[in-house]
Amino acid sequence: MAISVHAVTPDFVAEVGDVALNKPLAPEDLAAIRAAFTKYAILIFPDQEFDDEGQLDFARNFGPLETTVFKARKDHKLRLHENMADVGNLDSENRVLAADNRQRLYNLGNRLWHTDSSFKRLPAYCSMLHARSIPPIGGQTEYADMRAAYDALPEATKRRIAGLVAEHSIMTSRAKLGFKDFDESERVAFAPVPQVLARKLPDSGRMSLYIASHAGAIRGMVGEEAGKLLDELTAHATQRQFVYSHRWRVKDLVIWDNRCTMHRGMEFDDQRYKRDMRRATVSDVAPTCEQMGLAVAAE
Ligand code: OGA
Ligand code: MN
Repeated sequence: MAISVHAVTPDFVAEVGDVALNKPLAPEDLAAIRAAFTKYAILIFPDQEFDDEGQLDFARNFGPLETTVFKARKDHKLRLHENMADVGNLDSENRVLAADNRQRLYNLGNRLWHTDSSFKRLPAYCSMLHARSIPPIGGQTEYADMRAAYDALPEATKRRIAGLVAEHSIMTSRAKLGFKDFDESERVAFAPVPQVLARKLPDSGRMSLYIASHAGAIRGMVGEEAGKLLDELTAHATQRQFVYSHRWRVKDLVIWDNRCTMHRGMEFDDQRYKRDMRRATVSDVAPTCEQMGLAVAAE
């Protein structure tokens, strides 16, 4: 039986059924999923049974996998495979992380609007987040359509941001929450990287805004003006008409296109409820400046 694609919104979110992702996919099913993922930036696959290896194997169909940022910290003991981002609130004994736990405080940064790994020179193409356990209330994930947000910008703003390059660092987003506990190897690994503000998606040909709470400075612009522009673009892009809110069910796999979306995790009582969420992330094909044909000086 061929896969079924059910639109949730006209061209942002769809649900996909009649497919089990934990075993090798028929080439026509993979092609249908990739075609749907060019039109829709978010695909929801309900009721997927995965162990970590199965989830990573499915992700490998889309390209090379990223390694978790926690690996940059030598004294961090990984609970999961190094290709799996541990975005839940559990320790290696499956207990909820204490309020003052470093991993918990670090992951609170996921509650700010962002796109994954824009702080890496080669950022993420797509993320695949699987819900192993979820809280009964709260803990939704919101997604903003940055293609629709770009299309709705005034022409003067489109002209203003064309060719602009922002500096992204995960230390910038964490600093917004007062988190500054980075050691020397992290400071080196997380030095700011350049990313375009507006990009063209090679597969669909659509334009997209590309911003995140990781963005701080804009090259060639004074700090205050850059901060104001980034705040205005974020406020514009996260208006209700561009946002889909996902209420998780256990075993949902949601995949999103980081090139043209932002997302944020919503609050829940993380000292009371377990939320076990595991993310496999696929790298993009080239740095965004390179993709847009911009030559960018090293610093
Ligand atoms: C992520 C992320 C938010 C959430 O997995 O990249 O930001 O709701 N998650 O868990
Ligand atoms: Mn994220």
